[in-house]
Amino acid sequence: MCGIIGFTGLKQASPIILEGLSRMEYRGYDSAGMAVISPQNRMQLAKVSGKVAGLYEKTDNGAAFPGVCGIGHTRWATHGAPTEANAHPHVSMHGQFAVAHNGIIENFVPLKEELLAKGYTFQSQTDTEVVAQMLEDCYEGDFQKAVETVLSRIEGSYGFAILCADDPGTIFAVKKNSPIILGLGEGFNLFASDVTALVEHTREVVYMEDGQYAKVTPDSVELFAEDGSPLPLKVSHVSLSVAAAEKGGYEHFMMKEMMEQPEAVGRALSPRIKGGEIVLDDFRLTKEDFNKFTKIVITACGSAYYAGLAGKYAIEKFCRIPVDVQLASELRYADPFIDEHCLLIVLSQSGETLDTIAALKECKARGATVLAIVNVVESAITKLADSVLYTWAGPEVAVATTKGYTTQLAVLYLFAVYAARVLGRLDAEQYASVIRELQALPEAVRNALKTDCDMSNLAQYFKDAQHVFYLGRNTDSALAMEGALKFKEISYIHAEAYASGELKHGTIALIEEGTPVVAVCTNPALLEKSLSNIIEVKARGAVVTAVVPEGLPGSEAIEGYADHCIKVPALRDVFASIAAVVPLQLLAYHTAKLRGCSIDKPKNLAKSVTVE
Ligand code: BG6
Repeated sequence: MCGIIGFTGLKQASPIILEGLSRMEYRGYDSAGMAVISPQNRMQLAKVSGKVAGLYEKTDNGAAFPGVCGIGHTRWATHGAPTEANAHPHVSMHGQFAVAHNGIIENFVPLKEELLAKGYTFQSQTDTEVVAQMLEDCYEGDFQKAVETVLSRIEGSYGFAILCADDPGTIFAVKKNSPIILGLGEGFNLFASDVTALVEHTREVVYMEDGQYAKVTPDSVELFAEDGSPLPLKVSHVSLSVAAAEKGGYEHFMMKEMMEQPEAVGRALSPRIKGGEIVLDDFRLTKEDFNKFTKIVITACGSAYYAGLAGKYAIEKFCRIPVDVQLASELRYADPFIDEHCLLIVLSQSGETLDTIAALKECKARGATVLAIVNVVESAITKLADSVLYTWAGPEVAVATTKGYTTQLAVLYLFAVYAARVLGRLDAEQYASVIRELQALPEAVRNALKTDCDMSNLAQYFKDAQHVFYLGRNTDSALAMEGALKFKEISYIHAEAYASGELKHGTIALIEEGTPVVAVCTNPALLEKSLSNIIEVKARGAVVTAVVPEGLPGSEAIEGYADHCIKVPALRDVFASIAAVVPLQLLAYHTAKLRGCSIDKPKNLAKSVTVE
């Protein structure tokens, strides 16, 4: 995700653009830039790698950029390093056009080759610069016509803000699969990627729809359909405060990010399933490569470690290769049995966790091949790995990870199925069938979010607890650990995950009248066993909340015994965690909220621990 803004009116544009970019920094913050047309109709361009603060500095808080019409962009890099050269806006070769873009132009390579053949030179590797050059190439004095010509040739997803130095005061906004909202003012008009950047200037907005483009001037906003036909403006009134708008209207970033999980999991999966095949970007391993590996080691910290534990079951089940999951902070000092026959998979949302970096370096020094599964583009871990698979979760602001965890699972599942196919463990029919299951996961996550109300009600029973136990067997034991971590890190109530079968060997001594127990029972093959564990703890007074797969034989029996029963979509055992984790996230959130805890920034914690 990126943040785009365009302003045109009677006031200086730079300060408004800078403020708007600051408001949208949570959408992406690894580079920023702005272009303002000067009173002499010259395109003024400033770009920085890093945060918007650098742009304030570079333009002397905007004072160095006089002009009343401009655009700005804050970037969440998806393709191409977050360097100044790759920052937006991109300007055409002779400075006539400036373009800020959110999205991906899928056919930019052949378009770029055409322009190169015509003698155009490029300053960046981005797809966006191609659009700026195309505008210049087809411009014959009519700004709108140039925009329409380019739109007719590009494919992909885009939110554009486009300036033309020959047409000061006019900005074109274009929307296709990336949000653009128009803001209607008196003597000025503006638009941005979300209302956060608009609400302090106007509350009268128009949510653009896919395929539409708008011609924005200080005293008019004209909206057009994809075929160029004019459209009426459907004006909405925004009542959100700026702070609320930043969170997409949710009270906390954590809730916003939980609700983003279906789309985030979809982004992690769908671009990598093409024509019925799993294509892991540029990560390619042949059967010979895999046969070189005698084991796979997964290493990470915190929730990423628990994602690794869940992913282990998927890889072992499909590939029949032993997977060892180790805490990075332990692995780095364990004098590990790691050599050139080891594939090391490193999981990290931030890509900056020091323990994980140290473990990676230790294993690489011993000859391991390193695959990193990371969210933040061009982060430290991506520089150290031999291959990188991004999770495409988008910026995650809440310290307690949610979409960071589920998108790591999604990529691990993809890897497991890809490897199984390469190793010949899945025939064509099985492969196609499992791929269909993967493609259904975003919807399963969406359905799991429907438990929000139930979990909000259930939180009443947990908010005053001293101790909570999370039980699970096999794949569910890994999920129970993530559930317990989510719970304790934001509600500050002690929670412990335990392998259900192990409880009777000691810890059951702690179960007493009223002890809340969350029994994670999503593994269809183990429902009966899970039931006996529930009976065990109930016999000692526990109040049991069971998480069970919807409509599976055996679920009813559990429903009959548990005090509360949360139903989640029935999935294959090794995929179940990606949906079943959602009610556990929601339970942690609502319990913490009832306790008045600081949900997005829990005490003592950091989003990424870059120290020992
Ligand atoms: C902790 C975070 O500091 O680090 C957790 O609070 C996270 O949410 C863990 O799982 C590992 O961080 P990362 O960025 O390496 O996944």
